Amino acid sequence: MRRKVDFLVIGTGIAGLSFALKMSPYGKVCIVTKSKAEEGSTNYAQGGIAAVMYTPDTYEKHIRDTMIAGDDLSDPEIVRITITESTDRIKELIDWGVSFDKNVSGKYDLAKEGGHSEFRVLHHQDQTGAEIEKTLLDLVKETKNIEILENHFAVDLITKHHLGDEPDNNDKDIECYGAYVLNKANHQIMTILSRYTMIATGGSGNVYATTTNPTVATGDGIAMVKRAKGEIDKMEFIQFHPTSLYNPAEKPSFLITEALRGAGAVLKNKQGKEFMQKYDPRLSLAPRDIVARAIDNEMKISGDDYVCLDATHLTMDVIMNHFPHIYAKCLSIGIDLTKMMIPVVPAAHYTCGGIKVDQYARSTIKNCFASGECASTGLHGANRLASNSLLEALVFSHRASLVAIEGYKKVSFKNEVPDWDAKGTVFNEEMILITQSLKELQGIMTNYVGIVRSNLRLKRAYDRLQILEQETEELYEKSVLTEKICELRNMISVASLIITMATARKESRGLHHSIDYPKVYS
Ligand code: FAD
Ligand code: SIN
Repeated sequence: MRRKVDFLVIGTGIAGLSFALKMSPYGKVCIVTKSKAEEGSTNYAQGGIAAVMYTPDTYEKHIRDTMIAGDDLSDPEIVRITITESTDRIKELIDWGVSFDKNVSGKYDLAKEGGHSEFRVLHHQDQTGAEIEKTLLDLVKETKNIEILENHFAVDLITKHHLGDEPDNNDKDIECYGAYVLNKANHQIMTILSRYTMIATGGSGNVYATTTNPTVATGDGIAMVKRAKGEIDKMEFIQFHPTSLYNPAEKPSFLITEALRGAGAVLKNKQGKEFMQKYDPRLSLAPRDIVARAIDNEMKISGDDYVCLDATHLTMDVIMNHFPHIYAKCLSIGIDLTKMMIPVVPAAHYTCGGIKVDQYARSTIKNCFASGECASTGLHGANRLASNSLLEALVFSHRASLVAIEGYKKVSFKNEVPDWDAKGTVFNEEMILITQSLKELQGIMTNYVGIVRSNLRLKRAYDRLQILEQETEELYEKSVLTEKICELRNMISVASLIITMATARKESRGLHHSIDYPKVYS
């Protein structure tokens, strides 16, 4: 089956939906999404979205905080662009209908999170992402010109490789003609031709055993671009959120927002003793990489499976007004957080690197944008400042739309693209091979490529991954494509990028901490 659309968008999170809305007046937009449309990290975002709204906050302060969190590896120009465009993008979100909490004086109620020197996080209680996702999705559904295909899995970008012209890694002349997309209901692979393609496939937390990310976050877009010989950047910087709820049976891990620490909750060990003073003068509100490492170290010293977050001194009013969802969740597993400490552990949370893009979200593959968590704009450097990611997605989807509006009439369809060739493939009747390989992969990444790394651990991870990669490629070649085999292949590819880039970084910086390169803090 073949389709032609002006704009193909892969993913229905904040990055994909906001881009689709902006492009809809100019042509036909098709959004493909591999699960239900609302499923993605955006829907689970809690703390909120950082933006400069009022004095005493300034763009300069937000820029400085972002640079410090990024351990000076952020691109200063990208940081400037993102922060100075924050206020306009928030106004647009509000115009689209997103509701952020206000205080009694009618001003937006701004929260504070780790690494922020001012209160600047707009939020909707502790369910900001769900509010954004619902508002944008409702708008998209009622917009003429936008079609959403749920349960459609993007398998590969279409490039000259599919026309028999195999590019090498240095090829600067690769164009994207659309994507091959698997209809999960009937196993058919559609050819969707487009003028411009936006990859908005989110993060890759599921390469680790414990993650806050929903199951759809398997790094597909990053792996697709890698296969298409586009550039991928800074994958060594995987952010572990310090405080996911310790509840081992639950997947994904439930997040306890950093805003709770911003409101005064304090990290303690099981015995109720504070420990952050040993690690950073900013205590529980130090940047995430520092807090996650501190917790990791405390757990190693004590042998405990978790540390605790003490919010018992906060008033019921504060809890119910700002954190009702977290309160209810904790209560559902027997923890009344107004009376008991919350058990927490770090969990893989955010992919700072990804598809390398420029100031207008253009990837190194022509006519192909990337925005949101799958992209590497240069904003986050070695560590993302909390609540900067929803903002980044909005800013760069907007910037991509400027280029697409200007250029789409000049891009023609590549009609000679062949349909997907599934000859010789059979249904794989051993799903166990895939689930077992996935567990192995997650074990390798968690044990050897986690919060603290070493050359030896990375080498072990690399060697073990080679076997998994080879076995999975063989299985992929002969299988009728399913989402599960494609995801596994993509996650192996992403894991390989993380390990290779971590191995190449001969220093400890931000989220990449290696015992072989002790970091001297200034
Ligand atoms: P997502 O919202 O993850 O959407 C990705 C979409 O792509 C999904 O629709 C998915 O189904 C689809 N997709 C993926 N692969 C394919 C494929 N092969 N084919 C078709 N479709 C595909 N950031 C903040 O700034 N503030 C916060 O408070 C905050 N809290 C967070 C809390 C949690 C629990 C989590 C997990 C993240 C949080 N983050 C927060 C990070 C932020 O939510 C994400 O970075 C952001 O929402 C990513 O948006 P996105 O549009 O790039 O991707
Ligand atoms: C949180 O609410 O702690 C998550 C914020 C983020 O990941 O930016």
